[in-house]
Amino acid sequence: MSSIILADQDSIQKAADKIKKGEIVVLPTETVYGLGADATNTKAVQKIFDAKQRPAINPLIIHVVDKSDVDLYAEQNEISKKLVEIFWPGPLTLILKSKASHISPLVTAGLETIAIRMPEHPVMSQVIEKVGSPIAAPSANKSGEPSATTPKDAAASLGDSVDMILAAGKCDVGLESTVIDISDDIPTILRPGAISQKQIQEALNIQIEVNESSSNKPKSPGQLLKHYAPSIPVRLNAVDVKEGEALLAFGSLKFMGIEGGGFAKDLPDHQIMNLSEATDLDEAARNLFTMLRALDKPEFKAIAVMNIPDENIGIAINERLKRAAQQ
Ligand code: TXA
Ligand code: MG
Repeated sequence: MSSIILADQDSIQKAADKIKKGEIVVLPTETVYGLGADATNTKAVQKIFDAKQRPAINPLIIHVVDKSDVDLYAEQNEISKKLVEIFWPGPLTLILKSKASHISPLVTAGLETIAIRMPEHPVMSQVIEKVGSPIAAPSANKSGEPSATTPKDAAASLGDSVDMILAAGKCDVGLESTVIDISDDIPTILRPGAISQKQIQEALNIQIEVNESSSNKPKSPGQLLKHYAPSIPVRLNAVDVKEGEALLAFGSLKFMGIEGGGFAKDLPDHQIMNLSEATDLDEAARNLFTMLRALDKPEFKAIAVMNIPDENIGIAINERLKRAAQQ
């Protein structure tokens, strides 16, 4: 079993020392927990793919601690400079043409581009600083599962394949970073996240595109893969609860019935969780993955999910839910 250790000066140093030695450690970020390794150490990066059972075609994000680090690993352009200035540190990952550097080729999965982000989490920043090289970190879960947003969820998902989880509570955002490809002429969002298309368009004053994960030609290898899925089916836009289903609610349950008679509010507590009673989309994002995991029990036939408004971070929530519901 992996040990969950609360982040403090000693444990942060210990995590950094392990990563420097080529080990992998679960680390907190503002989006989701990451499974971190020294991005310049191929053997260490390989351990990430093994622990997650992640296909080698799916590249990783490198995490840096300073805005100026981008220039070391990627070709900057006018757009990237603006995005870095406005949105970093924060939940925005940039895909840029990669430069020859010491980054392991496993990180980029043979692509000519590289994914870079500067996280906004003091613990993660200190670990990167102490390691002295970028940290490659995918979400800290087995490939295909919902991401881990608590230390407990990371431990449950990764089990013995990792021995240290540096804990700093539940993640603030709860969904993975927005991924935007700016290596080409037209900036394209490859994965929606907390930073929306609208915010980016307003910041850049240009139109940007969104490459839907459901499109025929996904531009990001990760979009090809089944993702975020609990082991039981997920049913979206539920207007009632069917026999044997658990309910993932959003907002009021007043009008939510049980098929065949009765009210959802009378279901036993363990069968129902509410993403946000107050219909706060940020709160719903924070709760999404941990609640999907909590309701993923063999005693339920499926998880019925109530409608989530498709606005602001709701767009990213709905993208994750759509993929979780794919069979
Ligand atoms: O918030 C996050 O981004 C979290 C935290 C830990 O930082 N990390 C994360 O990593 O979500 P991961 O590996 O679960 O998702 C990275 C996504 C994948 O869909 C991958 O295919 C895509 O980014 N990606 C990475 N490098 C790419 C590249 N060069 N071109 C296109 N897509 C890329
Ligand atoms: Mg992931």
